[in-house]
Amino acid sequence: MDPLRFARLAAEEQLRQASGFFQVMSTRRTVRSFSPEPVPFGLIETAIKAATTAPSGANQQPWRFVVVSNPEVKRQIREAAEAEEKEFYQRRAPREWLEALQPLGTDWHKPFLEIAPYLIVIFRLDYGLSRGAEGKEIKTKHYYVMESVGIAAGILLTALHMAGLATLTHTPSPMGFLSKILNRPKNEKPYLLIPVGYPSADAAVPRITKKPLSEVLEVVS
Ligand SMILES: Cc1cc2nc3c(=O)[nH]c(=O)nc-3n(C[C@H](O)[C@H](O)[C@H](O)COP(=O)(O)O)c2cc1C
Repeated sequence: MDPLRFARLAAEEQLRQASGFFQVMSTRRTVRSFSPEPVPFGLIETAIKAATTAPSGANQQPWRFVVVSNPEVKRQIREAAEAEEKEFYQRRAPREWLEALQPLGTDWHKPFLEIAPYLIVIFRLDYGLSRGAEGKEIKTKHYYVMESVGIAAGILLTALHMAGLATLTHTPSPMGFLSKILNRPKNEKPYLLIPVGYPSADAAVPRITKKPLSEVLEVVS
């Protein structure tokens, strides 16, 4: 065991930090129109480093972050995503789902997958895979994978936002094509596809609201 490093803040500093963080986070929006302007790779790397500090079930860290900037690979991802999304919007999606998406104005066209300078693809590792003696495959069970990767993804989106970058949390459905294009091992499953960059000069976002605290917070005291 190590002694915990914990900086106890003065009460007014706690309040200042908490409200400052809320203010910054309340300006995060999902962006669907990106500028091709390049982004320093160091910003992406540091945000991913922040994501890897996330707690995870039994500290198994069941995630992999694949960062794509290669134009040809981005093109392949766009082509495959648009094929799935076209099928989704035109055939597979239940009417209720399309109705829920309607206010966002999304459709099967995904030009941002080629325009955004980086695509971060998060894979979840449902089990660990290593090689033992004589190359024998060893599988390690992972616990609370969805919860763990969700927390890491949240930290990643937050870190990118704090670094002054825009993101889109994208889930072209189904996402199996990402495993093929990115040549991932069989224990890695696509979790989220996150285009990252600066918003285009004319980027617009849907007018949406967040539920008030009174609707989402219950206090039991
Ligand atoms: C798990 C998840 C999947 C999402 N998938 C998509 C997607 O495939 N395409 C898209 O345009 N937006 C997607 N979004 C973005 C949401 O539509 C967006 O977060 C929501 O409308 C709230 O807007 P805001 O992020 O600007 O607050 C997704 C968000 C989450 C959390």
